Amino acid sequence: MPFNSYKDIIEEGDLVLAYINRNHIKPIRVTKDEILNTRYGCFEHNEMIGMSYGEQMGGSRGYGYIYLLAFTPELWTVSLPHRTQIVYTHDSSYIIQRLNIVSGSRVIEAGTGSGSFSHAFSRTVGLEGKLFSYEFHEPRFIEAKAEFEDHGLDKNTLITHRDVCKDGFELHDIPQPFVKDSGIAADAIFLDLPSPWEAIPHLKAVASSTRRVGICCFSPCMEQVVKTVTALNENGWVDVEMVEVAGRRWEARKEMLKDVNDVIKRLKDIQARRNQGLELLKQSRASTPGEKREASNPESGEANPVKVQNTGMGFNPFGRGLRIKEGDEKFEWRDVTGIEPDIKTHTSYLTFAYLQPPPSARVSL
Ligand SMILES: C[S@@+](CC[C@H](N)C(=O)[O-])C[C@H]1O[C@@H](n2cnc3c(N)ncnc32)[C@H](O)[C@@H]1O
Repeated sequence: MPFNSYKDIIEEGDLVLAYINRNHIKPIRVTKDEILNTRYGCFEHNEMIGMSYGEQMGGSRGYGYIYLLAFTPELWTVSLPHRTQIVYTHDSSYIIQRLNIVSGSRVIEAGTGSGSFSHAFSRTVGLEGKLFSYEFHEPRFIEAKAEFEDHGLDKNTLITHRDVCKDGFELHDIPQPFVKDSGIAADAIFLDLPSPWEAIPHLKAVASSTRRVGICCFSPCMEQVVKTVTALNENGWVDVEMVEVAGRRWEARKEMLKDVNDVIKRLKDIQARRNQGLELLKQSRASTPGEKREASNPESGEANPVKVQNTGMGFNPFGRGLRIKEGDEKFEWRDVTGIEPDIKTHTSYLTFAYLQPPPSARVSL
């Protein structure tokens, strides 16, 4: 099933994503008499034909199951064969909305790399829009071209084998359905290159001359950002801004409420337990050698457990040892949020800027 269309039922020849587990999604082409063998079971392609997208499929030997999912750019991003570093959905979705890329937009992307972002661009611009993608590494270009054809992206995507820093973006043999204003006339540009500042001077020739054109340069290092910003300023781009998208998982939970009296009680309890422990230690040292020791760990009081009492005062006075279920109605709680600490989320810095058409050329939308 191509990315730009939708259907409910799986047919022979469809591209299906076999969801094996959270970390393993396998793209397959449904082919008569083939079998998908996984460590969780065997799945016959013949049985997939006629099933619904999204359905759970049981293994043919009576154990294991997978889900048969339809292709989306988001799922492709997490299952594609990596040829390069790729752009992930938390960045691509932000860039698409920030550059106001919509159905009918004309977008330039360089380099193509593994084609992760190309799929998201292609779906967003739809059949009314166009994507012009450039890749200078020949084997990667060949693989991406074949993949785009296989996935039906070639209807709105033109991939070119080109070093854009050296030779720019202009094309002289654009297929007619891709031509606008006798050229590319891009209204959004995305550069995921090691040296975008070398490509920036070539962009005016292919940017729309009647609309405000947005650009995003995707660079992992601050030194690259500095050079990119300099090139954007020198080439007439305005409203330059750099952002970083930090994807974080938030959690919502309850926190036990305690007041100062609770804290005092807790401190007193710790002191009392300590004294009891020391007393037990003294007693065990004084006992005859060879006699069975009664308290081997006075701090924890394991052998002679100190009897502690839950006072029911609205907090857990004894901390360690007493497990209290979050939200237990005997205690007071408040709702709090927290984030997973120290997640490394830095992918790249996103430098945005805009190119204004000359006032005489502006058209109202
Ligand atoms: C990080 S990858 C792009 C990944 C892509 N955005 C994705 O989401 O899959 C960068 C690509 O740019 C290509 N590249 C680097 N310099 C280039 C240039 N001057 N012209 C064209 N492509 C270039 C590299 O070969 C590489 O495939």
